[in-house]
Amino acid sequence: MENTNFDPKNCRLPGFACVERFGFIYVNLSPDPISIEKGLSGLTKKLARYEPERYRFVHGANEVWHCNWKALVENFMEGYHLSVVHPRTLHGYTPSKLSRKGPSGAGFTSYFAKYPDEIPHRGHGSAKLPKTQRHQSFLFATYPCQVTSIAPSLLVSLCLMPRSANRVDVRWTMSVFGDDMDEETIRERIDLWTEVNREDREKLELMQSAMKSQYATGGPLAGPDYEGTVKDFLNWLARQDRRYP
Ligand SMILES: [Fe+2]
Repeated sequence: MENTNFDPKNCRLPGFACVERFGFIYVNLSPDPISIEKGLSGLTKKLARYEPERYRFVHGANEVWHCNWKALVENFMEGYHLSVVHPRTLHGYTPSKLSRKGPSGAGFTSYFAKYPDEIPHRGHGSAKLPKTQRHQSFLFATYPCQVTSIAPSLLVSLCLMPRSANRVDVRWTMSVFGDDMDEETIRERIDLWTEVNREDREKLELMQSAMKSQYATGGPLAGPDYEGTVKDFLNWLARQDRRYP
């Protein structure tokens, strides 16, 4: 095609903003992406003490959840439901009443799921972690499509791929800090989180069905420590509506 003014520079796959943070790869499809440093400012420093680069991948699973992806984010990110939806799996470690709102920013929100005093530490984790951070899990959402729970020895993350208004494909992964856990403990944690995810999925799929009812109504949010993260997420969604009308 020598006579057609063909320019190889104009013939290539589209390029997208792509960065690695905390062991994850973040891709932004927007032609005008916001800076991840700006979006996650306040989160990066908080996570640094966990030394996320020292967590090693131990498990991954792909699932289809028949619910709206935004409902999944809201559910994962509020401490209000922990004792009610997870009475046998999580209530003993992270009861709702000990949930506390964490920092938030332009591209994330977070909360702390604190452990009762009588619960012993579960694994050691990074030596950089202060004592208080050893006795809690830190849950954060990096908008729009990732929710994560990090503890001194365990990191669980859900990557959300919305397929329709009532279906989201979920890739969830588990990583452990260094050699903090033996194989049997890792197996127990995988089983625990498989069950926790099943409990959430079951409730979300029932809610998805109920939301179709003409009698489904809205309601107020609980206080900041319980659902302040949901408020953050809804405000972020509203900002996107204004940015991309
Ligand atoms: Fe849950």
